[in-house]
Amino acid sequence: MDKTPWYMNAYFYQIYPRSFMDGNGDGYGDFVGITQKLDYLKSLGIDCIWIQPIYPSPMFDDGYDISDFVNVDPRFGTLEEYHQLIDAVHAHGMKIIMDLVMNHCSSEHPWFQAARKDRNSKYRDYFVWSDTDQKYLETRIIFTDTQKSNWAWDEVAGQYYWHRFYPQQPDLNFDNPEVQEAMLNVMRHWMDLGIDGFRADAVPYLFERDGMENENLPETHEFLKRCRKLMDEEYPGAVLLCEANMWPKEVRPYFADGDEFQLGFHFPLMPRIFMSLGKQNAESLVKILKDTPDIPENCQWCTFLRNHDELTLEMVTEEDRQWMWNFYAPDPEMRKNLGIRRRLWPLLDNDPKKVALAYSMMLTMPGSPVFYYGDEIGMGDDIRLYDRNGVRTLMQWDDTKNGGFSTADKTCMPVIDDPVYGYKQVNVASQEGDPNSHLNMIRSLMSTRKASDALCRGKLKWLVDGENIPVLAYIRESEYDKVWVLQNMTDNEQSFTLDLQEGTYYDLNHPEFEIQGSSKTEIKIAPRSFYWLRKKN
Ligand code: NOJ
Repeated sequence: MDKTPWYMNAYFYQIYPRSFMDGNGDGYGDFVGITQKLDYLKSLGIDCIWIQPIYPSPMFDDGYDISDFVNVDPRFGTLEEYHQLIDAVHAHGMKIIMDLVMNHCSSEHPWFQAARKDRNSKYRDYFVWSDTDQKYLETRIIFTDTQKSNWAWDEVAGQYYWHRFYPQQPDLNFDNPEVQEAMLNVMRHWMDLGIDGFRADAVPYLFERDGMENENLPETHEFLKRCRKLMDEEYPGAVLLCEANMWPKEVRPYFADGDEFQLGFHFPLMPRIFMSLGKQNAESLVKILKDTPDIPENCQWCTFLRNHDELTLEMVTEEDRQWMWNFYAPDPEMRKNLGIRRRLWPLLDNDPKKVALAYSMMLTMPGSPVFYYGDEIGMGDDIRLYDRNGVRTLMQWDDTKNGGFSTADKTCMPVIDDPVYGYKQVNVASQEGDPNSHLNMIRSLMSTRKASDALCRGKLKWLVDGENIPVLAYIRESEYDKVWVLQNMTDNEQSFTLDLQEGTYYDLNHPEFEIQGSSKTEIKIAPRSFYWLRKKN
């Protein structure tokens, strides 16, 4: 029997609950709505849903500002309905993980309210205070567009408090053992409800030390290992997915000896997929993957094309950042912090060939892919909306009112209604039955990958190197399967020479395409096209 843990080769689907589906007609996405759409997710081949924060929250940072760690926000429904959703996910043979936001809470959380009002309250020490804002100055600012300092003055407290994100999100003080215990209990609370694990938000920032950059500190890893130990001992089989927007060698310690996180996002890979497509040269992508250290056998990278945040450019050089901004965000409105607040399809000119190529890259590289809701149907964005809301608009289910998201007259977010990306043109219902739709194109690529042992878990062997890489080519090989992947990054036809054994080879996505192998097999690849080749038996 195959003993590979499920998460080593899983499809994750990221649901932004506010915008996914409104089940009770109040204009706000909810648990009942998501439950109604599980058949759809199953039909896409999804293994695990990642549901973004559903905790009570003032929603200053869309739920990443939590005011109660052990409840659900009534706008999403009741705890009972959440429970029913979890059960229904399992009944569909899928799993569900949720956000665990450890680093901070909302300034409206009772802990913070008690802390600011009374220096002698035990909650004072749940947060990081200072009489001066000149401490920890080596620590960078993350929300560069809006924040000048990681300290905010609190009038009531008469002190500054530490926050790595918005001032409405005071950092918790992980030096306080009570905070650590409280967070472990939060994990137990949700695991007891039946979820399958967590996507752990912003984990590099848990501790602060003088004279340090205050990211990835050893104390942080120590605490995260405790979290994992709890999961292994009390909830065996549960997973932890690490959100650390860092270089691969900095993320590597989060896998530790296989006893910290099982999964970690590969942040630097993502912008390099876009850079390779934009520059028509995959050099930077090959380099970052070659620079990516090996991880323990029970661990896996999570790959992704887009998510609910800006397309982050933190993990590229200053020169590449300028290039990316000029190329993909010519309008300053498209930029956000150190990134680009646009969706996949508008970024790639709404060109199915380029999007398919981007998916080909993600699906043929090692890792468990994470899909962002709406990208599978080609949804657009609305850069006029505040902060990152432009990439968080309503899921477009059909061409009826509000794109089928809700029957309400007023919805929590606008639905996209422009002539190109609007819900009348771009929606699930119209694409379901059309074999050539975006949805079915992506679904088909997804199922082709899943059917290939080599693409799922084979080793990667590079067929390219150097500075000019117009064709991104590699072999994926497992014990039972071998696939040659050739991807033309450019707008011109390219030819690539493979050293193949004699025999017939076919393309997994278009089996009617066949070539004869020889030690010098020359293959012509049409502009922005790709082959996933396998030898015929
Ligand atoms: C990362 C999340 O992805 C982002 O949306 C959020 O603003 C920050 N963490 C703070 O929690």
